[in-house]
Amino acid sequence: MEIKITKTKVPKEKQTKNLGFGKLFTDHMFMADYNRQKGWYNARIVPFENLTLNPASTVFHYGAEIFEGMKAYRRADGGVQMFRPIENVRRMNNSAERLGLPLMPEEDMLKAILTFVECEKEWVPYGEGESLYIRPFLFGTDEHLGVHSIENALFIIIASPSGSYYAEGINPVKIMIEDQDVRAVRGGTGYAKCGGNYAAATRAGEKAEKLGFTQVLWLDGVERKYIEEVGAMNVMMKINGEIITPMLTGSILPGITRKSIIELLKSKGYRVTERKISIDEIIDALEKGQMEEFWGCGTAAVVSPVGELYYEGKTYVINDNKIGETTQMLYDTLTDLQWGRTADEFGWTVKID
Ligand code: PLP
Ligand code: COI
Repeated sequence: MEIKITKTKVPKEKQTKNLGFGKLFTDHMFMADYNRQKGWYNARIVPFENLTLNPASTVFHYGAEIFEGMKAYRRADGGVQMFRPIENVRRMNNSAERLGLPLMPEEDMLKAILTFVECEKEWVPYGEGESLYIRPFLFGTDEHLGVHSIENALFIIIASPSGSYYAEGINPVKIMIEDQDVRAVRGGTGYAKCGGNYAAATRAGEKAEKLGFTQVLWLDGVERKYIEEVGAMNVMMKINGEIITPMLTGSILPGITRKSIIELLKSKGYRVTERKISIDEIIDALEKGQMEEFWGCGTAAVVSPVGELYYEGKTYVINDNKIGETTQMLYDTLTDLQWGRTADEFGWTVKID
């Protein structure tokens, strides 16, 4: 795939303070068009600007949209690196396959991401815990209202210099366990990273925020019995010394941070169990004081301790609302690798510069 690069004539000034998350955008974006007959064409990096789309475009009516989230990190030596980008490429194609959107050959998508990050590398921030958040997304652009298979699509990558995802930073977050709405069901789109999953989650998220919680922990869509994941992260916990995480059943996102943490823990000799975890087991452990630690993990959230869980009108405090030993160890090990502070024995990092 050839990528034509057109640089902006009016580069923006780079904000270095109070980045927040996903609020500022770099100077350029990557775009590529798709047509069923032509395949992918017109791959380009152009100045960041608003889109012009036909109001009948599929994405606006039937939610044909998927996305990814990944980061570029500033190393101590001033260089820039990414973390397992090929995993995001593969998940993007899995999501595309589920939503009936076109797949892009892995090497082309990886090239698009790496070329774009190379182009925007000056935007990778230098502050503690900051990174350049990269957002590839893909959506249907057929200009008619019939519900048909997708003929035309657009693939875009934008990037946002960002700080911590949660206002709490590394401090414990409060999570509400949702017992009414469900996010996904097996056979549905839960394992895909599609906008619709997040739309389905919005109402419960609003309820949680009103009650003073940061996000929602979902229960399975069939029995509302097993815990699944949080709005923007997978979850793990330590009960009575055992590290457990919900198994991938098809209705939760197979997180790259989740996978990396499981591999990291195993390499350090810890035992990690992936299995179904019922809400009854969680409440029982909380009531008996056996819930030693509970944390979430994701690209945006990194490793985030959970200090409070709320379920059916009751609040349960975990580890005195303090970050636990395993959570802290995982945060340190993972961020040291991502920011290049330790040697990468796993071969997970990809140097851009
Ligand atoms: N679950 C959901 C719903 C998410 O949005 C995310 C974030 O991407 C994750 C889990 C964690 O996935 P990853 O570690 O690949 O970022
Ligand atoms: C990510 O961690 O990349 C996510 O997608 C979370 C997001 C919905 C902000």
